[in-house]
Amino acid sequence: MIILVGGEKGGSGKSCLAQNIAVFLTTEAQASVIMVDCDPQRTTSDWIQARNNNPNLATINCVQLYGKIRNDLLSLEQHYDYVIVDCGGQDNLALRASMSVASHVLMPLRPKRRDLKTVSHMDDIVSTCLMINPKMQASFVITQCPSLPNQAGRITEAKDVCRTYDIKVLDAVNYSRNIYDDSEESGLSVFELEPKGKATEEMRSIACELLGITDAKQLIDQRNNIASVTTLRGNYGTGRSQEKRFVM
Ligand SMILES: Nc1ncnc2c1ncn2[C@@H]1O[C@H](COP(=O)(O)OP(=O)(O)O)[C@@H](O)[C@H]1O
Ligand SMILES: [Mg+2]
Repeated sequence: MIILVGGEKGGSGKSCLAQNIAVFLTTEAQASVIMVDCDPQRTTSDWIQARNNNPNLATINCVQLYGKIRNDLLSLEQHYDYVIVDCGGQDNLALRASMSVASHVLMPLRPKRRDLKTVSHMDDIVSTCLMINPKMQASFVITQCPSLPNQAGRITEAKDVCRTYDIKVLDAVNYSRNIYDDSEESGLSVFELEPKGKATEEMRSIACELLGITDAKQLIDQRNNIASVTTLRGNYGTGRSQEKRFVM
């Protein structure tokens, strides 16, 4: 499965979301994950390098790809449970190429005017890509929300702006918390720095809502089911396809 975390606006939390979702899938869903970094600033590649230098952390692979990456993503998908693409607006070609093959697209927006002004253009890109990848599920997520109760209206308003377009907006949001910045140091995620913390809870909720699941165990069960069906078909498949050929 290919998951794209993308959008035009720098600083909205794309790399942060991509990295935390990668850790969630690796550690809680016990999946094999590869990250694809499309940003020449190498934010995610540097984070992975720091992470993989720490023997106490689950290793995650990462490659840097730019431009027409559609076929590269499709071939990576053959080898990993999840391919997570971290793609900013500066590589528009990679963004569109990823959308042409992604199952899920997550677009973070801060509840700020400059971020919300990009919604219309993202909606255009998504609509175009849906023509060739109609199964793609695109969602906005509101990030770095202010936690003061008197600012809650900003979050609701940001969601309302998104809802005026045809793209889903997640109920789950993340708040502005120093732990996101602190965890990036040494390749950590919020899951590892504060497993029972609020940031971990909100990242887990974002990942689950994005993938349409209630918890990581559901993903493990889904993979086990697919594996047992494949084994069973492997045991009996040859006979059946010969039978079919004979009938035809
Ligand atoms: N929810 C959050 N609260 C506080 N800081 C955040 C949050 N999400 C991301 N950040 C910080 O904001 C900065 C930009 O985030 P990043 O994920 O690199 O954005 P992008 O990839 O969209 O440019 C980083 O320093 C990151 O740690
Ligand atoms: Mg980034």
